Amino acid sequence: MRLMRFVMVVIWVFFSFPAIAQKDMLADRPPMGWNSWNHFNRQVDDAIIRAQAEAMVSSGMRDAGYQYINIDDTWEGERDIKGNIQTNSKFPDMKALADFVHSKGLKLGIYSSPGAKTCAKFEGSLGHELQDAQTYAAWGIDYLKYDLCGLREQMKASSSPEAARKIMIDAYTKMRDALRSTGRPIVYSLCQYGEDAVWEWGSDVGGNLWRTTGDISDKYAKMAEIGFGQAGLGRFAGPGHWNDPDMLEVGNGGMTADEYRTHMSLWAILAAPLLAGNDLTTMTPETVALLTKHDVIAVDQDAAGKQGDRVSAEGPVEVWARVLADGSKAVGIFNRHHTVLAARIDFGTIGFKGTVKARDLWQGKDLGKLSSPYVVKVPAHGVVFLKVTQ
Ligand code: GLA
Repeated sequence: MRLMRFVMVVIWVFFSFPAIAQKDMLADRPPMGWNSWNHFNRQVDDAIIRAQAEAMVSSGMRDAGYQYINIDDTWEGERDIKGNIQTNSKFPDMKALADFVHSKGLKLGIYSSPGAKTCAKFEGSLGHELQDAQTYAAWGIDYLKYDLCGLREQMKASSSPEAARKIMIDAYTKMRDALRSTGRPIVYSLCQYGEDAVWEWGSDVGGNLWRTTGDISDKYAKMAEIGFGQAGLGRFAGPGHWNDPDMLEVGNGGMTADEYRTHMSLWAILAAPLLAGNDLTTMTPETVALLTKHDVIAVDQDAAGKQGDRVSAEGPVEVWARVLADGSKAVGIFNRHHTVLAARIDFGTIGFKGTVKARDLWQGKDLGKLSSPYVVKVPAHGVVFLKVTQ
């Protein structure tokens, strides 16, 4: 009877105070952090991870909202005689590393594959899902990126595309159940490059985020192809389950500052995970400023969790907008051309009437009242990123 009353109270609290319920939700905002792959690739080791964690704190990134330090592929060693996964020599003690990362007020992520091998041909989780989830939980892991790669072998050998799809979905479901059974909150990141319309089923298999594309690279053309290619996916995302257009390249040196501003602004409008992919220990002040711009991060992390979308495209000028919790809109005016040009914006097409109030988010400057048409110069491959209020 007492237990019954307790359960009723818990249910009542959950439904009466959605804020409380949401606070306990895993990935209630798009995850923010860092991942080793884009910059360090196969070189990642224990010392690099510790240094990145320290730099995330000293650079101010932790205070700006970044939280996860994620080890990507190539940490895996052999299995022991009981089948337990072990680290290779680059990671002498994963539990100690997790303790260190936690001591900095950060969380640790790891990587595996539902196949026998990972993309880099290291040991995957096939046939050891529960055991691996238990090992991760015992180490103190907070985030798992689960990368399809090796499972393609089984999928290819199957009798039909439908059978292949089932193999993949079953594999992702299996790891979801394994992670849940540990009782440890572990963010579950699906990585299968956006195939089979993953946005339609990613949430059903427990994904807190799912990659919607192939791998990004540190070039404007690739970043733009991925970022601007996200149109129409917004309705599949929300608190606890996000589209993931891949990790950031900001600070890796292959794009101009304007191109990196496009990268950050677009990812913020897309409510995308912000996983830095550069070396945090050697950042220029410009890179730190790009990654920690408060007004831009606030758009990405907005409490309503509504992913934005493209409003219009006129040649190289694209306007994208995202509805924010306070009723205003984040508006990105993007120039995809390689020369500066003047864009003409009619706020009516973005859902406003008459004059609007605007703030330039990169300049951190209130622009006062604006009326349509608003003509603004947008740098080559750049963006003018506004917060617009009626
Ligand atoms: C795939 C993923 C990348 C990275 C590598 C590691 O290519 O898409 O993000 O994890 O595997 O091998």
